Amino acid sequence: MTGIKRRATAAKHPLEPLTAEEISAATRILKAEQDLEDSHRFVSVVLREPPKEKVLGFDNGENGEPVEREAFAILLDRSDGKAYEAVVSLSEGAVRSFEHVPGVQPQVILDEVFECEEIVQESPEVQEALRKRGIEEFDGVMVDPWSAGHYGDEEEGRLLRGLVWIKQGGPDDNGYAHPVENLVVYVNTNEGRVARVEDYGVVPVPQQPGNYTPDAVGELRTGLKPFEITQPEGVSFEVDGHEVRWQKWRFRIGFTPREGLVLYAVGYEDDGRVRPILYRASLSEMVVPYGDPAPVHRRKNAFDAGEYNIGTLANPLELGCDCLGEIRYFDAVMSDTSGEPYAIKNAVCMHEEDFGLLWKHTDFRTEKVEVRRSRRLVVSFIATVGNYEYGFFWYMYQDGNIEFEVKLTGILSTGAVEPGEKPRYGQLLNQDGLYAPIHQHFFNVRLDMNIDGQENTVYEVNTESAPPGDENPVGNAFYTEATPLRTESEAQRVIDPFKARYWKVVNPSVENTAGEPVGYKLVPHQNVLPFAQPDASVIKRAGFMTRHLWVTPHDRDEMHAAGDYPNQHQGGAGLPEWTGQDRPVENTDVVVWYTFGSHHAARLEDWPVMPVQYAGFALQPVGFFDRNPALDVPPPEANGHCGYSG
Ligand code: NI
Repeated sequence: MTGIKRRATAAKHPLEPLTAEEISAATRILKAEQDLEDSHRFVSVVLREPPKEKVLGFDNGENGEPVEREAFAILLDRSDGKAYEAVVSLSEGAVRSFEHVPGVQPQVILDEVFECEEIVQESPEVQEALRKRGIEEFDGVMVDPWSAGHYGDEEEGRLLRGLVWIKQGGPDDNGYAHPVENLVVYVNTNEGRVARVEDYGVVPVPQQPGNYTPDAVGELRTGLKPFEITQPEGVSFEVDGHEVRWQKWRFRIGFTPREGLVLYAVGYEDDGRVRPILYRASLSEMVVPYGDPAPVHRRKNAFDAGEYNIGTLANPLELGCDCLGEIRYFDAVMSDTSGEPYAIKNAVCMHEEDFGLLWKHTDFRTEKVEVRRSRRLVVSFIATVGNYEYGFFWYMYQDGNIEFEVKLTGILSTGAVEPGEKPRYGQLLNQDGLYAPIHQHFFNVRLDMNIDGQENTVYEVNTESAPPGDENPVGNAFYTEATPLRTESEAQRVIDPFKARYWKVVNPSVENTAGEPVGYKLVPHQNVLPFAQPDASVIKRAGFMTRHLWVTPHDRDEMHAAGDYPNQHQGGAGLPEWTGQDRPVENTDVVVWYTFGSHHAARLEDWPVMPVQYAGFALQPVGFFDRNPALDVPPPEANGHCGYSG
């Protein structure tokens, strides 16, 4: 390595995502040193994030040495089904480790999705089952590759569970209008063959179309005048590599195949000093359990992060459609199945939005008005996972609030009943027997908290009514009570809206102006618990969804709420396993895991494409600042367009 190149490496922030060149280099080094055969498929090649101390040291300028660049790769050998994890030092050009991970199935590889469809389409056994249903043309056979899960009766090997729909009259037809009920096709993707066909009997395929493009909708409404966002002087943020500065916020953007968008080193400038809030924040896992016991639907429960690598399913976003205004895009650079880099162009969108009122007061005696408009910075990506779209949005506000919002849209995963039948476990969508099974979407977000430093404590705060008596003579009294969550077992909690429950993360060593520890609170939005039975496979495999709050001490190897390899896993991994150690989580480097669910009893209005539903939570400063941190936001321009007289 030349001296010039060394300096270039040294200048790079240790959390900059791998470049295309670095992914190529990692793959080249691995293939050369390990003599990899063509049967090896690359599941992912990502930055191996350095230990936290090294990153924080780099940020503080304490570390004279450049931080070593490492890649982490997951591989699958199709010939024997073995999975491998590799660490490659890019700084040294050497493989650090290459290890077989026994008994696991890595995430579904994008190629397998398309292969699964072809294998099912071409299977004589499947074609026979389709002929029984009056289907003679197989070009329109559409196969969604659902994860096989773990029920104990599956064939050996790497499996997908293909469910079938029919696109009628061409590739642009919405196949979800035409489900082939009672047909399940297990595909062994390593061996490229159908492993098992299950046919539970013929149900007529619903015929009524469900198309939603303008040509199918008919006359479009009129009356929408142009609505344009102009920022004549440009944006208010600055970007350096993947570091972002906006208003008083500082943070870094990352993107991984498994989690999609990652935020690092989120801090807020206060009194000339950037105060840390979050070290790392990301979607750690998600799962979509279905509540319908019918044969096709009873095993539907996709772990879209841990089974499907939701980041690899990110949409390339386009100006004026997904985001509006002056936009800064970031590409997502990932590896394909042969380990070669490719970019999803414009995978991440960042822009500012006017967000209405920030704060206001009118002194009614003097008629003087002080009003400030709120602006938020939006960082987002949208993934298409088969029938569904998930938009993941981080918002930063001028008053120190952070919000995470998932936007759920796309198309319902449908089934069919005999015409005239009314399904108990779903909503009938038309009189052809088309229906949408009831289901839920659970998300878990991993929040590596860093409130003014590493040593933090999590409290649960409930509001209590005071008992009547001397202290409460007229019975009106109520107050908040904060209880520290000292261990991993104490810190497994669920929401309670009737106690106005929230959780706050404080730094016991840093006091605010009231002499109390500075903190941020996690504010639940609408939430729900799963309805599956405690011994159901999906509850064992997605144990994280049985609690809304989990707290663990920081460990860089504990990243995914359902464990590293949930695909076909029997369950118990991840949060339930780690927290079984019952480690102390008081005044230490804590990671907060928040689970939130979106309950989906489908409506007619969700068909044929769903208007967006929202789910998420907020992080709000609670005594982090000594007063309203947005006091210094200037008044709107006094050019008369605000519509008030001040
Ligand atoms: Ni849904």
